Formats: sequence, C-alpha cells, structure tokens
Amino acid sequence: MNLILFGPPGAGKGTQAALIVDKYKLVHLSTGDLLRHEMSSSTELGKEISEIINSGKLVSDHHVLKMIKIFIENNKKSNGFLFDGFPRNQDQANLLDKLLADLDLKITSVILLEVDKESLRERILSRSQKEGRADDNEETLIKRLEVYFSETEPVIAHYSNKGLVKSIDGVGEINDINQRINSILDLV
Ligand code: AP5
Ligand code: MG
Repeated sequence: MNLILFGPPGAGKGTQAALIVDKYKLVHLSTGDLLRHEMSSSTELGKEISEIINSGKLVSDHHVLKMIKIFIENNKKSNGFLFDGFPRNQDQANLLDKLLADLDLKITSVILLEVDKESLRERILSRSQKEGRADDNEETLIKRLEVYFSETEPVIAHYSNKGLVKSIDGVGEINDINQRINSILDLV
C-alpha cells in the first residue's frame, strides 16, 4: 500500500501519518520533516532553505526531488510508503509517478484532510507556543495557505482523475479522524 496524505498546513497530516504508519507498517516520508532535519543539522542544504521555509514558500524541486529519490531508493524493500507533504506541485507528482513506476509500484490511495481555515489558524498558533517552529506564525501561515491553494491543491485532480482520492473531515478528535481514515484504508 502506497498512500499520499494531502491537506493544508495544520490539517493533521503528520499527526494522522504517525497513526497510519504504525497500523499498516508503512514508511513515513514527510518532506517537511526531512527539510527541517537538514536545517537543524545546519547542513549546506539546511542553510540554503531556511529562509524559504520560514517565508512559507516551497523549496525548489531540485532540492526536494534529490532527497526523495534517495529516500525511496533506501526504502524500496519496505511494505509501502506514506507520503506526507509531497507531492506539492505537478512536477513533483510527475516525478513521483516515474520513481514508483521504475520500482513497479503505484499510489494506492490518496487521503485529503479537509479542515476549515479558522481551525488551521488555531492549531498552528497553538503549536507555535509549544514547539516554536519558525514557520508557525500568522504572517507565514497566510503565505503557506496561499501556496497550498495555488500550487498544491490543483495536484489533487491528477489523482482524482484516477479515482484514488478520498476526502475526510479533518475536524474533531484525533482518534475519530483516524477511524474515518482506517475505515477507508481497510477497504483498499
Ligand atoms: P510541512 O512540514 O509539510 O508543513 P505543512 O504542510 O505546512 O503542514 P504542517 O506540518 O504544519 O501540518 P500537518 O498537516 O502535518 O498537521 P500536524 O499533524 O502537524 O512543510 C513545511 C515547509 O517545508 C513548506 O512550507 C515548504 O517550505 C517546505 N516543504 C515541505 N515539503 C515540500 C515539498 N514537497 N516541496 C517543496 N517544499 C516543501 O498538526 C498541526 C497541529 O495541530 C499540531 O500541533 C497537532 O498536534 C494539532 N492537531 C492535529 N490534529 C488535530 C485535531 N484533530 N484537533 C486539534 N488539533 C490537532
Ligand atoms: Mg506536517
């Protein structure tokens, strides 16, 4: 099973991903987590991308795709992948198709977490007080949302054309949302 979790910033992709990979024994690939790891390790890449991430824009495909390629190669013997925060534009979606096809793999399902903007704002601002992620502030959130709706949301059509997308109400208790997702994945 190879899954993609789509949803705007704060939709709960990371939270639900942790529960899904545990239940279905998948490998979790969060490009945001990988990029933040580069930043906290102060690698060359980390230094180059910190300003972009903190402004809410997308990191260049060149950087992201190299990272993804290595990750997929290193984990190709796994039970399946859960992609969280990737692909984020059409070029990334095309490359993912190609990388998976080279390994004779396919995306099995795409879960879209739907959450209203006010809940997203509350979640992100609440996390900013607890964790201090540099892009969790009102100004950057506005940009992250703008980028999501202009560049990422249109990519969902790439998968809905193949009948793969399931929309989930992403508001409510974390475990209830997880049940909604499991009830779909158990049928796959
Ligand atoms: P990324 O790390 O992917 O961030 P994001 O998409 O903005 O989303 P978040 O991680 O903030 O939210 P989430 O949906 O995972 O929700 P979470 O579970 O954490 O990307 C960050 C940046 O990296 C991008 O802006 C870009 O610059 C760069 N980047 C990443 N991928 C890229 C790519 N492919 N190409 C180019 N650039 C890329 O939940 C949020 C909060 O809400 C948490 O505190 C959580 O505890 C809480 N919460 C979760 N569920 C609930 C619930 N049901 N009720 C109440 N609170 C909840
Ligand atoms: Mg996340």
